[in-house]
Amino acid sequence: MMKNDYIPFSSKILEVIRHTEIEYTFRMEFNGAVRPGQFFEVSMPKYGEAPISVSGIGENFVDLTIRRVGKVTNEVFEHYVGDTLLMRGPYGNGFDVSDYMGKDIIVIAGGTGLSPVRGVVDYFAEHLEERDHMTLIAGFKTPHDILFRDDLKRWEKNMDVTLTVDCAEEDVACHVGLVTQYIPQIKLGDVQNTVAIVVGPPAMMRFSVQGLLGIGLPEENIWISQERKMCCGLGKCGHCKIGDTYVCLDGPVFNYTKGKFLVD
Ligand SMILES: Cc1cc2nc3c(=O)[nH]c(=O)nc-3n(C[C@H](O)[C@H](O)[C@H](O)COP(=O)(O)OP(=O)(O)OC[C@H]3O[C@@H](n4cnc5c(N)ncnc54)[C@H](O)[C@@H]3O)c2cc1C
Ligand code: FES
Repeated sequence: MMKNDYIPFSSKILEVIRHTEIEYTFRMEFNGAVRPGQFFEVSMPKYGEAPISVSGIGENFVDLTIRRVGKVTNEVFEHYVGDTLLMRGPYGNGFDVSDYMGKDIIVIAGGTGLSPVRGVVDYFAEHLEERDHMTLIAGFKTPHDILFRDDLKRWEKNMDVTLTVDCAEEDVACHVGLVTQYIPQIKLGDVQNTVAIVVGPPAMMRFSVQGLLGIGLPEENIWISQERKMCCGLGKCGHCKIGDTYVCLDGPVFNYTKGKFLVD
């Protein structure tokens, strides 16, 4: 019998980690090959499906960090540890850590953009011998919106981490200002041996890439992840198509030499 790619599998919620009022990580039972930056379609019968990036990978599980914004995600938040969710995937190319090995690495993430790249940061936080200097600039709207606080603390031990918020009403233990403000302060070695990953809202990605080009990084050393409206996730419906590129198949991770034609 022919396999139907649209049929989801059911996966148990192993843990729910609450970051903010509207952003939780659902640790889902999963055994299979998966990369950071790939995504699953999470299905809610009667409500629809939503593509959600892999924010963490472990033995027998994947983490999905979900922002509650609409029909499907509201419904996901009605589920608890021990319940099951329906999922399809993983889809997309994801990040290939070998692109960054042996290099100085810069990661710039805005808001939930830290989710898809979290696995890459974690990998190089654990495998110091596989990279040179590493910088992470993570920006959020306010202190209440900060995700992965424990990880940020842990990563500080072996990379330069700048945590910044756009605005703060109270005294906070982080910087205030847009991520782009901190690009000129990056400790830069040989730009030819420096790679960067930029993930976040379209305007943040656009200005961050401009900043990186401004300090001398070649376009081909920059990667972005493009969160475009998706439907099937597997190259059939055409919802994500830009020109002849299917973002769900060819992306969502793109080298900037190609990604620059796709940024909204
Ligand atoms: C590759 C990829 C990876 C992604 N990864 C993640 C992730 O890791 N975590 C995550 O939380 N999200 C992620 N997203 C985004 C997520 O898929 C969307 O937010 C999705 O639409 C949520 O589905 P929903 O049914 O809950 O929301 P929807 O009901 O579809 O609403 C989505 C947005 O549209 C607005 N909206 C809804 N209906 C209307 C309307 N009638 N008029 C105007 N505005 C409206 C809502 O206010 C909301 O902002 C990703 C998207 C892509 C493409
Ligand atoms: S989401 Fe259907 S073709 Fe890409």
